[in-house]
Amino acid sequence: MKSVLFVGAGRHQRRAILRAKQLGLRVVAVDRNPAAVGLPHADDAHVVDFAEVEAVIAVARAAGVDGVLTVSADRAVPVVAAVAEELGLPGIGSATAHLMTHKVAMRRRLAEGGVPQPRFAAVRVRREAAPAADTVGFPAVLKPADSGGQRGLFQLQSFEDLDRHLHAALAESPSDEVILEEFVDGLELNGLVVVRGGHAYPLLLSDRLRPSGEGFGVGWIHSYPSKLFGDVLEEAERVAVRAVVTLGLKDGIAFPQLIVSQGRALVVEVAARVPGGQMADLAFHALGVDLIEIALKQALGEEAPDEIVLPRHSRPTAIRFLTARPGPLPLGKVRKVSGLDRVLQAPGVVQADVFLQPGETIRPVRLDGDRRGYVIATGQTNVQALERAEAAARLLYVETE
Ligand SMILES: Nc1ncnc2c1ncn2[C@@H]1O[C@H](COP(=O)(O)OP(=O)(O)O)[C@@H](O)[C@H]1O
Ligand SMILES: [Mg+2]
Repeated sequence: MKSVLFVGAGRHQRRAILRAKQLGLRVVAVDRNPAAVGLPHADDAHVVDFAEVEAVIAVARAAGVDGVLTVSADRAVPVVAAVAEELGLPGIGSATAHLMTHKVAMRRRLAEGGVPQPRFAAVRVRREAAPAADTVGFPAVLKPADSGGQRGLFQLQSFEDLDRHLHAALAESPSDEVILEEFVDGLELNGLVVVRGGHAYPLLLSDRLRPSGEGFGVGWIHSYPSKLFGDVLEEAERVAVRAVVTLGLKDGIAFPQLIVSQGRALVVEVAARVPGGQMADLAFHALGVDLIEIALKQALGEEAPDEIVLPRHSRPTAIRFLTARPGPLPLGKVRKVSGLDRVLQAPGVVQADVFLQPGETIRPVRLDGDRRGYVIATGQTNVQALERAEAAARLLYVETE
């Protein structure tokens, strides 16, 4: 029996762990949180902070795993690459892992490769802020070079805004570096690209809708198929593939994020992992493709055949995340949550979940983590799928104080 190590065993990894077991694998898992919901499902669970790479390597070695992977956790990507390198297991390599998790390194490589992207400048210390602002201009976006989930992300209108938020953005970066980028106004697309033996296959592109204001970086709706079509969609697909190849991924699943503005597709970032935030579920419902199965095969160095990679169907699908306004959740401290069963029975709904716990506080949407559940629906068209997901989301009853 082959065994795999999951780096991280939280909510997003839990189902992947269950799937791995279903596929006949022995699962070893590490998470620093002893209460991580995936740990109880692992055959061999360890409470280890994966920031301690040596400790993860020790677990992998002792367990004699045949492969290592992560789902959804960007911070785990370099760790997975390092463990694989150390043990001689299949992996994307530390150099590619760095390019695909460090936004400054990524942008420099994309620039060398001529991949379209926003203007950018790196900032490490305050005196670099003014020249960076001169290069990039305003409006701009400020973000940590190596964080995620929209932590430390700001939209800036002026140099005063940059000055005000620089510290908070730097504080979220383990390498003490931030990136300032031209703000691109347009439709955001999420992509999924499967790379096998250096050949990149663009599996899916979907619209990622976001609220305006503070939560401008949070995807609160995924909608498939995209409302773009024809040349513009094809161009986005080409840019997504070029970005992935330019960053050096040879075997793996990539998650490119793009913004299409005035007919041009610009790269926001590309992650080297199965995405979190229900994108894997989108691939499953919209296309009948199981990303976890592909990722497991690749982690084990096995071929991922066309039968598991190519779409089985193309079904309009929408995901509506449960957030505060413009989502359906009320603000305040949660007293009671009910009605998930009603949501699940609503027309077109294929999957839904709520992460809200009584006692927690629902805040205005700003971060990835402010998405406190989701509803996935399918329909005859992308519009109907979204209407169904929205209607179903309203059936959830949340009482706050
Ligand atoms: N240059 C930009 N212009 C406009 N929006 C941006 C830009 N950069 C990021 N965003 C928005 O912020 C979100 C998060 O940025 P991203 O670079 O993907 O960081 P994270 O690692 O937090 O996901 C993006 O998905 C997008 O909605
Ligand atoms: Mg992102």
